[in-house]
Amino acid sequence: MTTIQDSPTAAGSGANASQVFKDTASTRDVADTPPERVAAIVTSILQGVHGAIAEHDVTYPEFQAAKAWLMSVGEGGEWPLFMDVFVEHAVEEQVAKSQTGTKGSILGPYFLPDQTRLSSTCSLPRRADEQGTPLVLEGQVRDTDGTPLAGSEVDIWHADSDGYYSGFAPHVPDGNLRGVVVTDEEGRFAIDTIQPAPYQIPHDGPTGQMIEAAGWHPWRPAHLHIQVRAEGHRTITTQLYFAGGDYLDSDVAEATKPELVLDPQDDGTGTRRSTYDFELEPEA
Ligand code: DHB
Ligand code: FE
Repeated sequence: MTTIQDSPTAAGSGANASQVFKDTASTRDVADTPPERVAAIVTSILQGVHGAIAEHDVTYPEFQAAKAWLMSVGEGGEWPLFMDVFVEHAVEEQVAKSQTGTKGSILGPYFLPDQTRLSSTCSLPRRADEQGTPLVLEGQVRDTDGTPLAGSEVDIWHADSDGYYSGFAPHVPDGNLRGVVVTDEEGRFAIDTIQPAPYQIPHDGPTGQMIEAAGWHPWRPAHLHIQVRAEGHRTITTQLYFAGGDYLDSDVAEATKPELVLDPQDDGTGTRRSTYDFELEPEA
């Protein structure tokens, strides 16, 4: 069980997520965006804000409270958490309109590059006393034409059975429940891990304050994060969820899709097993 003292704080998770984001600058080069596009997008965003003010008859105290809140999100390092929970799903859905193959979902703030490489049949690194129901995820990585993709990478990371991620919660050792699984000559993989718990976005900071003020809940359903990479193919970033799990229909990050729900079955030994195949489209 996690004790109060070693629970991660919003500020701690936010600071780590901010640092990781700053360290991975290559994914956001927009130097070529023409001024007309910048103006069009910024104008639309401001129109949305102005429209909300008019629609709800926003007062000066509310405007000033909003300014103070925005400042505290920045000071608390919570922008990566906030953007990935409340905005990323819309970008993902937009981009997905021109994609085929396995459905994607949001990356979220807790991806870490360069994790331990593991063979196609493997156990994810974990603590000696790691809690949680044993879970095996197996499957095959294929091209959208059905060709198996040998040597592709199934990069997997997920929360522990208390809902905490290694690299962001100080009491969880680095690399815990993370790994890059390399598929065999038939593109297959079998990953032994534990069932993650639902994840509660850090709620002791300004993002949590906003959620509470609005009467919402801060939960995401239990999920596995997976990024599948194969040479010559578009990388898929996705998440897999669990049938019957809490918050599946009320994900605070709105990142679930019916195609991404597993229904693991007990194999008679207390281990839950599920099969999921990934289909990657050739790179344009
Ligand atoms: C957040 C955390 C996640 O684990 C996730 O999948 C999406 C968002 C967050 O705290 O912002
Ligand atoms: Fe997550």
